[in-house]
Amino acid sequence: MTVIPTVLAPCKRKPATDTFFHDVVQGLTAQQKYLDPKYFYDATGDMLFQQIMQCHEYYLTDCEMEIFRNQSADIVTALQHYAGIFDVVELGAGDATKSVHLLQQLIDNGIDYTYFPIDISGNVISQLEQSLPEKVPGLQLHGLHGEYFQMLQQANKYSSRKKVLLFMGANIGNFSVSAAQNFCRQLRQYLQPGDMLLTGFDLKKHPQIILNAYNDAAGITRAFNFNLLHRINRELGANFDTTKFEHFPTYDPASGACKSYLISLENQQVHLGDTVSIPFKENEALYMEISQKYSLEEADQLAAFSSFKPVARFFDSKHWFTDCLWKCI
Ligand code: AVI
Repeated sequence: MTVIPTVLAPCKRKPATDTFFHDVVQGLTAQQKYLDPKYFYDATGDMLFQQIMQCHEYYLTDCEMEIFRNQSADIVTALQHYAGIFDVVELGAGDATKSVHLLQQLIDNGIDYTYFPIDISGNVISQLEQSLPEKVPGLQLHGLHGEYFQMLQQANKYSSRKKVLLFMGANIGNFSVSAAQNFCRQLRQYLQPGDMLLTGFDLKKHPQIILNAYNDAAGITRAFNFNLLHRINRELGANFDTTKFEHFPTYDPASGACKSYLISLENQQVHLGDTVSIPFKENEALYMEISQKYSLEEADQLAAFSSFKPVARFFDSKHWFTDCLWKCI
């Protein structure tokens, strides 16, 4: 039996914890149980994700890094051709290890621009403000800490130049196709005709290569998924027993959907605090994350659907990954 008394919400938790609690209960009481993958990234989750990016099975980071290391000059040529004078806005800038190559190339070409990194983490933005001007001398940087769309509006207030938006790291893949369509349509509403979007897509390839990327032999991706259960235990007073779940990544080569689940190994009850009890049946799946893979045609269709025109593509040497340049129409 699932017990969710309506009186449990307004207790002494902090608002952020209330939201976390609410989202977790909503996910665990849905017909198909799920957890919102944005909660993967606490301090341990960030560290595990850094390790995933260094796993040899997780090819995505190396592929996109190769594109930016080797082809930033070509990207800048395309940007100058299609956008002329512009500022650069990066959504989810992180540590900017890939974009730094592009930023340096823009400086080398004598282009006058401001870089607006946007990140939900204030910590990420202050680190960038400290470290990037040293790495890229002459860089004009204006960090924006907050939600993507609100911060994009801010960037538009600060500067009337055209915007070149970077959305890299295959983050678009963490939306289902329909959610990606909604996201791109919404993004387009904050942009003007002539603005550009450079976005990274992990491409469909041999299914085993994709599956291995989400099931590394060292078990780091497994630990990354289980970390969210540990986080729920710690922060929301739950009692998930991770030995009673199995990490189960799947890949459907037809749709390109790579989905990760945790499978309950037995009938069990999981408690959240004193007030919520969640039943799991043996073999029941808890849906954790999608990492959608695209064909070139599907990426183009997404552009067309959201009023962008694809104008250029940049590939790694294996053609496993692409950064697509789209122009707002
Ligand atoms: C952040 N994102 C693009 C990663 C991906 O490939 O979907 C997250 C990830 N999850 C497990 N491994 C990597």
